Amino acid sequence: MAIDDLSKIGYFVPNLPRFEIDSEKVWEWWNRVNVPIKRIQKDSRGNGGGFEGQFWDGMTIWQKPGYQNQIVWRVNYQPNDELFGEMNKRILDSLPWYDIQGITLWSNKQRISPHHDGLPKDLFPSAPRIALLDECKNDTFYLVSKSKYKLLTPCLREGPNLFFFNNENYLHGAHAPEDGRKILIRIDGPLVDPEGMKAYINNQIANGAKYEGMD
Ligand SMILES: [Fe+2]
Repeated sequence: MAIDDLSKIGYFVPNLPRFEIDSEKVWEWWNRVNVPIKRIQKDSRGNGGGFEGQFWDGMTIWQKPGYQNQIVWRVNYQPNDELFGEMNKRILDSLPWYDIQGITLWSNKQRISPHHDGLPKDLFPSAPRIALLDECKNDTFYLVSKSKYKLLTPCLREGPNLFFFNNENYLHGAHAPEDGRKILIRIDGPLVDPEGMKAYINNQIANGAKYEGMD
């Protein structure tokens, strides 16, 4: 049954085949080309500096022209169609409600305090991520609701791994990774069809998609 108020949902996981990648090849490439991620300007919520590469590593693997001019992070652009071409195409096909500007791999190296990203600001789960690789002992990514401090820790190690989180009514953060590395894919770009997206969420949940939220 569809939930009546999407703003209470912290995250939802549509029923899509898992996004898989050859982890051995990815880490071999990652170790050669990876550059720490730095913040170069304030985001739309005024979050500023203090990010000099100590928190995350990562690379942008697909982008539209001009993407690097808009973003608040300095991220190395490292396209690799052999490794990621098919996956990127699938990502673009899976998100028709977005005008995707960039696809970026992110890997947190230490604890990330709970925060909002600059965008999106919708009152429903609309921030797309893919838990691509995870070799950590612990589930690192979590959400906490602002009104009731309810903690959600999505487990995405098996089954579908594309998920959407609520960047307005929930803060998100990450525990320090234990005994391993992980890669989360961040998909950036405006949601251009919010009504279509909301209908998709309702439809997916009505058909058994995983989600968690507040009561
Ligand atoms: Fe974030």
